[in-house]
Amino acid sequence: MAERKKLLEIKNLKQYFNEGKPNEVRAVDNVSFDIFQGEVMGLVGESGCGKSTTGRTIIRLYDATGGEVLYDGKNVHGKKSKTELKSFNRKMQMIFQDPYASLNPRLKIADIIAEGIDIHGLAKTKEDRMKRVYQLLETVGLNKEHANRYPHEFSGGQRQRIGIARALAVEPEFIIADEPISALDVSIQAQVVNLMKKLQKEIGLTYLFIAHDLSMVKYISDRIGVMYFGKMVELAPADELYKNPLHPYTQSLLSAIPSPDPISERTRKRKTYDPASHNYDKNEVIEFREVTPGHFVLCSEKEFQEYQAKSK
Ligand SMILES: Nc1ncnc2c1ncn2[C@@H]1O[C@H](COP(=O)(O)OP(=O)(O)OP(=O)(O)O)[C@@H](O)[C@H]1O
Ligand SMILES: [Mg+2]
Repeated sequence: MAERKKLLEIKNLKQYFNEGKPNEVRAVDNVSFDIFQGEVMGLVGESGCGKSTTGRTIIRLYDATGGEVLYDGKNVHGKKSKTELKSFNRKMQMIFQDPYASLNPRLKIADIIAEGIDIHGLAKTKEDRMKRVYQLLETVGLNKEHANRYPHEFSGGQRQRIGIARALAVEPEFIIADEPISALDVSIQAQVVNLMKKLQKEIGLTYLFIAHDLSMVKYISDRIGVMYFGKMVELAPADELYKNPLHPYTQSLLSAIPSPDPISERTRKRKTYDPASHNYDKNEVIEFREVTPGHFVLCSEKEFQEYQAKSK
């Protein structure tokens, strides 16, 4: 993994809403991680912990309060020329959390999908434009006939496929998928995840895949980051995180997953996380530390020693 290319470097990212006011929310608070080219980086944590805000800040829907985001070594934030902005906008796309709210109800599917094609001038003729739309519909498992319909004529799963086709239309390299399946029926969730996995392999896409649910994220992710109240508390390769969760919050998230085996399900104990359990001294430095290669935990020096001993 060490020699893999870093596509994104997120360094000390901060997104404070209403900064300095009594109602300040530190939605993203000093978060650092890399995303390697071609990988699926999962991001999990309970509602309100800052997952969407992290995604939206990376893609520049929000100006960051602090920190930086490097894409292919170049700073994404800060002043940019129009051409540079356009190029970033094309490379990075987002699939939104709510398939019902994210498609313009007044536009036909063809025009929704072709919006990026038009903005970036990717089709030379009308025929070429429609050809691309038909191809994209096919790629996501829909068909030509769907092009002339409106969003309300589709189910949630189909709308999410349209959202994926729209994101793919500009031939991006990196896609932030913000809970792309959480609004869907369980039976449809696997279909959409499989489609995304297939596209990743075929086109070589890189994803930041956001989810509440650790069970689905395990299946799609190469590495997983766990967020708690605006902070990244643990990051590890997916298998390692499940086998050797170190931060007590990660342990509590894992203990919430029902087991498919009825016997172990009966004995499953749910752990609850109490942030006060760390019992930190005032002068202890709480940092994101690498316990074993590629396995990071937000912890004190004392916890770091304990985690290292546990990981031997
Ligand atoms: N535009 C905003 N203005 C003020 N506060 C906001 C804004 N957007 C989000 N927040 C707050 O920031 C925090 C993080 O929100 P965010 O939407 O990133 O969480 P999330 O992890 O995506 O949650 P969910 O799983 O419910 O989607 C929350 O406390 C939220 O209320
Ligand atoms: Mg969210």
